[in-house]
Amino acid sequence: MISKKMENMVANSSAIRAMFEEGNRLAKIYGRENVFDFSLGNPNVPAPGAVKKAIMDMLEEEDPVVLHGYTNSNAGYQDVRQAVADSLNERFGTQFHYENITMTVGAAGGLNVILKALLNPGDEVIAFAPYFGEYRSYTNNYDGVLVEISPNTVDFQPKLDEFEAKITAKTKAVIVNTPNNPTGVVYSEETIRKMAAVMEAKQKEFGTDIYLISDEPYRELVYDGAEVPYLTKYYANTVIGYSYSKSLSLPGERIGYLVIPDEAADSENLINAANVATRILGFVNAPTLQQKIVKACLNEKTDISYYDRNRETLYNGLKKLGFECIKPEGAFYLFVKSPVADEKAFCAAAKKYNLLIVPGSSFACPGYVRLAYCVSYDTVVNSLPKFAELAGEYPELQKC
Ligand SMILES: Cc1ncc(COP(=O)(O)O)c(C=O)c1O
Repeated sequence: MISKKMENMVANSSAIRAMFEEGNRLAKIYGRENVFDFSLGNPNVPAPGAVKKAIMDMLEEEDPVVLHGYTNSNAGYQDVRQAVADSLNERFGTQFHYENITMTVGAAGGLNVILKALLNPGDEVIAFAPYFGEYRSYTNNYDGVLVEISPNTVDFQPKLDEFEAKITAKTKAVIVNTPNNPTGVVYSEETIRKMAAVMEAKQKEFGTDIYLISDEPYRELVYDGAEVPYLTKYYANTVIGYSYSKSLSLPGERIGYLVIPDEAADSENLINAANVATRILGFVNAPTLQQKIVKACLNEKTDISYYDRNRETLYNGLKKLGFECIKPEGAFYLFVKSPVADEKAFCAAAKKYNLLIVPGSSFACPGYVRLAYCVSYDTVVNSLPKFAELAGEYPELQKC
């Protein structure tokens, strides 16, 4: 018999994944080109050519015993960590060194490592809705309690009054994700400053350390020159969780890193704990070939113009049909208001037109739906007549 804890996890298992399976089923019946699958955040821009070249060069030139072996430190190759630190220092004016960097198995691995390192049973972790649903599972993995801040559906910046009211002596961590999945919103510098001030005050009030965990898989995916503040500069107890899943289109390769700055409370112990957590969670170390790719491709990025074209076309197309949504400044998601309160009914209606979209309740924000536009441009263009048919079912939508 599986554990009680897993029983719940299996029962609540990802609706997004289920949708993805549904996409495959429909594609078999109707043909892939007639299914408009906006369900999954799986990048469809290929990894930069430099990635392939780096892999080929490494296989040719590196000692295979070293290349495919365990790393000396569970935190990863020292030269790779130093290269990541140097690159961050150059970009953001920080002063990291290799010990501040722990290579991880993607952002998901990094979040699990840091939560494992921080949480005692019953500790609270705050997340701002709408948020990536896995935060609840990751917190639950270490017997923490996820505390939710309700969504601000005006501009999707975090509600700081509610945040302040919900911090308790048990609050151990706060997770932010900007650019955000599912809204595409970038938290403003003003938001970050205010959030940091609230957390500083609460740390003093309770005599505790409250860590700000910045989950950043979408940092490089921004449009129209949007700036994403680097959070260690605003709040000392910040840990960054970065990933190359989206920035280099390598989601299946599972590579990212944590930054635990010297300024963070108890940083030496926390760095050691992250090292041990990497080992005992069974990761042992982040994939070695991928670590080497990171070093070789530090200045490479995905082709953002591809997503930008999809963003403009889908956003403008849906607005014309009367749908309400804010224009995303980053990531590759559009968060659209459902024309009816029950957004799951709206998703079911969309499916009749082979449009696969994800209910906002998967992100603790019912009444909205998420569209992942990391799909082909043809999919976006050809989906619009289907969205028009769908919109026809809702006379309350005001066409522009
Ligand atoms: C907000 C957010 N955090 C973390 C992850 C996990 O990313 P990774 O592939 O780096 O583990 C995702 C993946 O989509 C995400 O959207």
